[in-house]
Amino acid sequence: MANSTSSYLWRKKTLEMVLSETEAEQFKLKKTLTAIDLIALGIGAIIGTGIFVITGVAAAEKAGPAIVLSFILAGLACAFAAISYAELASMFPIAGSTYNYAYIAMGEFLAWIIGWDLILEYVFALPAISLGWSGYFTNLLGSIGINIPAWAANSAWQAPGTGGLINLPAIGILLAIAILNYIGVRETATVNNIGVAFKVFVVLFFIFTAVWYVKPANWSPFLPYGWAGVFHGAAIIFFAYIGFDAVSTAAEETKNPAKDMPIGILGSLGISTLLYIAVSAILTGVVSYTELNDPAPVAKALNLIGLNWARGLVSLGAIVGITTVLLVMFYGSTRIIFAMSRDGLLPPIFSKVHPKYRTPTLAIYLITIATTLVAGFFPIGVIAELVNIGTMLAFVLTSIATIVLRYTQPDLPRKFRAPGMPWTGILAIAFVLSLMVSLPWETWVRLIVWFVIGLFIYFGYGRHNSILAKQQTQH
Ligand code: ALA
Repeated sequence: MANSTSSYLWRKKTLEMVLSETEAEQFKLKKTLTAIDLIALGIGAIIGTGIFVITGVAAAEKAGPAIVLSFILAGLACAFAAISYAELASMFPIAGSTYNYAYIAMGEFLAWIIGWDLILEYVFALPAISLGWSGYFTNLLGSIGINIPAWAANSAWQAPGTGGLINLPAIGILLAIAILNYIGVRETATVNNIGVAFKVFVVLFFIFTAVWYVKPANWSPFLPYGWAGVFHGAAIIFFAYIGFDAVSTAAEETKNPAKDMPIGILGSLGISTLLYIAVSAILTGVVSYTELNDPAPVAKALNLIGLNWARGLVSLGAIVGITTVLLVMFYGSTRIIFAMSRDGLLPPIFSKVHPKYRTPTLAIYLITIATTLVAGFFPIGVIAELVNIGTMLAFVLTSIATIVLRYTQPDLPRKFRAPGMPWTGILAIAFVLSLMVSLPWETWVRLIVWFVIGLFIYFGYGRHNSILAKQQTQH
């Protein structure tokens, strides 16, 4: 039995094993984050390209004014999933998020599937977001008379026919983010806190300035694309909610994870959801949804209602806001690679920690190279949909892991118990699956291709080299 397939596919880590891993000197990360830092990390990762860029096209082409319902629907799906994240993150104070939870709950193979899926989410989210950043940045510079040459503003594949070669602003911002992540988590969190304060200020500024210009006639017809449009809209603006899950990757660097993780995850999601509902209702209330098909819809709406003076501030808010999303996503991606490498599922060099900064240096190099290559040349649309489906899958698997653990390990201490289990988990799975089926079949095919590559890596490398594999051979 020891060598049979089932024995390695389902081998599990125990909580004790995981905790002793985190105590080993060579893997030690600094524990400096507080509940407020975590809420800010969450908002930092959540509010960005989704609300500042994607809402426009989703309202204009998918849902109309009912984009508000899309935001509520996607928000509910995320809220049910977030409750599971909160329970698991309060139980296991470890880096690597869902990947590690699955290793304990469901065994190595499913942990690999989740880890590989999280790499997809984070590694592709970074270039997609950096392209949104690059667009706003190029526009803002253009508005003060500084023009980035066409060859350096986009690649030929990103903007055909413009003479583009490479997207240098996107590469530049990713390099800056990488350096900050390299220097340390405390510095990263401080820069993030400042950025988040400014971003929330700009969103509130938009809400309280524009609300006076709402004309209820703009909300009619409310459902121009019917209920199917609401679901399509929700599947796209789901991107706006991605990020609260990144809070859970910081558990190992949090002072009091059992108490602070649920506050960070649920708090950041709750605040962002309220802001999104307000912004999307006002946006479609001040101008007709048909006008919103623009890469900078919030700025455009201000322009259309004659508040041109406010455009610069909102554009700056978008740039700062999207920067913090990059910061946290970059952070999350390196911690996933770090955790998987520490377990032997990826080569050991990726879990080497810098002697002074205590950050995973080679994981940072790897993510930098991969994301700058994609951001420099690949188009945004395809990448963003792939990110959505990957994240949705992670939410489904996390909810399953929470339910499974309630039955298989009922006595493990849970500082935060998700209310209404297993029904909360089942609702999360149902909501998220309903969004997944609203995505185009091409996106499903890309997801499958990604997993086929992942299976080759697991069966070719991970299953022989994982720490658990080595322990099994010794016994
Ligand atoms: N939620 C993040 C954003 O909207 C990914 O940019």
